[in-house]
Amino acid sequence: MAELHLAIAGDLHDQWDRIDHDLLERLRPDALLLVGDLSDGLPRIPGLLAELKLPLASIAGNHDTGGDPSGERLRQQLAMLADHHCGWALRELRPPGLAVVGGRPGTAGGGFHLSRAVRSVYGPVSQQESADRITRAALAADPALPLVLLAHSGPAGLGSGAADPCGRDWKRPSCDWGDQDLTLAIQQIRRRRPVPLVIFGHMHHTLRANRGERRSFVRDDEGTAYLNCACVPRHCSDASGRELRHFSWVTLRDGLPWRISHRWYGLDGGLLYEETLWRAPDPAPAPPQPALSRC
Ligand SMILES: [Fe+2]
Repeated sequence: MAELHLAIAGDLHDQWDRIDHDLLERLRPDALLLVGDLSDGLPRIPGLLAELKLPLASIAGNHDTGGDPSGERLRQQLAMLADHHCGWALRELRPPGLAVVGGRPGTAGGGFHLSRAVRSVYGPVSQQESADRITRAALAADPALPLVLLAHSGPAGLGSGAADPCGRDWKRPSCDWGDQDLTLAIQQIRRRRPVPLVIFGHMHHTLRANRGERRSFVRDDEGTAYLNCACVPRHCSDASGRELRHFSWVTLRDGLPWRISHRWYGLDGGLLYEETLWRAPDPAPAPPQPALSRC
């Protein structure tokens, strides 16, 4: 059976360095995916990512505009990310054999809204046009390749509670803060091919006002897995003072999600904590899991 191992870095918010590169050298995923908000529009991380030999794909988040309404900071980010950026576009990674389709760049969630920075770079785009761009990109992908949708904000429809994968937690009442164009795109794509995996970030795992942790994984009736990867800060330490680095981790088997988890690695590459989110039915005995703890 063909397996692919995907390391996914949630909203970095400037937490990325050469130790992360060393970790990836040890862990040897087949690809690295980044869900955006690398920093506030600074060049350091896109410059580092350009050094990686690993197949990778990235999508710009709202923070990657640097708060610059002229769009110039966003343009700089896109220029540095170059072909790694897949906003509204298809990026086929060969090797390992993976079709990554990006959602709307620079989104801050909340249904559908184009920031001034995004409008400056891309011009006016309607919700339907945005959905159609994502759909066209997905339908242009080689049907033999596993398909992953990579977005900064997740789709609308995953729940309206504060702790839902795209739930608004910073203001009451809580509501569904997901993107409607992405939901529409998923519906359109499904008429032609299944959508096995949608990954995103933006809505951080730790809820505001001490309301606990966000539910970061949902699987719907059509078998689509939705994974919120925004564990922030992703550089942290445990109660013993050991430094940790977070990655979300997806194993695809024959193109379908097989194992999905959040993982916290020590700096030497040891897997110190794992929160398993999804396991496909497996007749084999499950290996023992380390106890879950959080930063
Ligand atoms: Fe964000």
